Amino acid sequence: MIPGMPKLDPNSTEFRAAGHRVVDWIADYLDNVDRYDVLSRVQPGDIAKQFETNAHDTGRSYDDLLSEFESKIMPGVTHWNHPAFFAYFSITGSQAGILGEMLMSALNLNGMLWRTSPALTELETLALQWLRDALGLPSNLFGIINDTASINSFLALAAAREALGLDIRRKGMTGRDLPPIRIYCSEHAHSSIEKAALALGIGAEGVVQIPGDDAFRMDVDALEAAIARDRASGALLCAISATLGTTSTASVDPLPRIAQIAAREKMWLHVDAAYAGPSTLCPENRWLWDGIESADSIVVNPHKWMFTPIDCSVLWTRKPDVLRETFSLVPEYLKTPDTAEINYMDYGLQLGRRFRALKLWMVMEHYGLERLRGVIRDQIGFAKRLAEELQKRDDVELLAPQMFSVVVFRKKTDEETQAVLDRMNASGRLFVSHTKLKGKLGIRVAIGNGATEWEHVERVLSFL
Ligand SMILES: Cc1ncc(COP(=O)(O)O)c(C=O)c1O
Repeated sequence: MIPGMPKLDPNSTEFRAAGHRVVDWIADYLDNVDRYDVLSRVQPGDIAKQFETNAHDTGRSYDDLLSEFESKIMPGVTHWNHPAFFAYFSITGSQAGILGEMLMSALNLNGMLWRTSPALTELETLALQWLRDALGLPSNLFGIINDTASINSFLALAAAREALGLDIRRKGMTGRDLPPIRIYCSEHAHSSIEKAALALGIGAEGVVQIPGDDAFRMDVDALEAAIARDRASGALLCAISATLGTTSTASVDPLPRIAQIAAREKMWLHVDAAYAGPSTLCPENRWLWDGIESADSIVVNPHKWMFTPIDCSVLWTRKPDVLRETFSLVPEYLKTPDTAEINYMDYGLQLGRRFRALKLWMVMEHYGLERLRGVIRDQIGFAKRLAEELQKRDDVELLAPQMFSVVVFRKKTDEETQAVLDRMNASGRLFVSHTKLKGKLGIRVAIGNGATEWEHVERVLSFL
């Protein structure tokens, strides 16, 4: 230590006082978040230019930093925790989840190995078994938490590539004669599937986007035709990625038929249920999982529709050995005698890992499954009611069937639709996003914040 310099945190006095202030600030924020404009009104560069060009040599008090947080940073915040945030997929930093995050930071665990924190590994395993069973998923699934669905789909498709039996892990893909590899998904699949293919050396051309039917579900006949064509041309058929709850319309691909095709063609079946998965906490939504017994991997995001602060995405697989064979690489300094235990570093790319199971456990256990089901049911009810109200109007068209908590609609023309969308988002009272379906611009309302009431959803109607 440099003589005369205090250690990093000499005691906890200042921390304790500021910590109480922060918790009070958070509680006030959550109580009053509806008073903020949902979408920040700052212009590009407005936030950065308030700050000096270099970090300070001398530290500053928490009081100073908290007041600067309010005056300089908060104006540039788009309020994802706002009950009228309906853009993309709305999310929730719930009170239980926030407390979980605070404890996670305090412990600052790194769960790369079982022994680097047995509680992290064992709670992750347990919470994912609870969640799997609560969603009505098959009991033979092994789960792991990662940051996002994008990363989880990447890991799953890496395992699918390894399962081709080409020894890509050892030999790589370059300098050898490999036929083109194919992954199939619908044209409405999330872009993360194509991104995974880019990163896996399969390439954009290796992703075959199958057209959707009238309700934006994968057209299985078109899938059959694409597979037959690719097989005849000598391509290697790697995986089918089905989406249960697509990003634009929450449509559901016909999994039972897709599963039959994947089994017949010996392809890996990946299921992206990042958004809609949590809705199956309610038994009436479990039809979503029809055909799921055949899925090799499934992604569900508690950070989307299960009131858990971002980030928290679950990957389940019935083939953990393949995931492990794809990613396990244990250098001398990470060898342990605990070979019978799960060392989560063996099942993915990253070594270090956060204690995300703690906040998931806090959310499940503080609210209880019945309360979570109640909120999800209310939100699906709001979406239904919104769709009904919209259908009563002559000047509005629903662009897709209302599914789960998503409603997509438009005015008569793209220009009118854009004008309404701009007015909504400029008002600060709500935030919606857009999509294009069959060439038509649509306003997309996705309900999912735990504080949303009908009065927030009703704001959509007030702009028409
Ligand atoms: C269906 C679907 N899959 C995957 C993703 C990607 O999620 P993440 O942000 O967790 O990577 C999204 C994001 O909205 C999505 O809608």
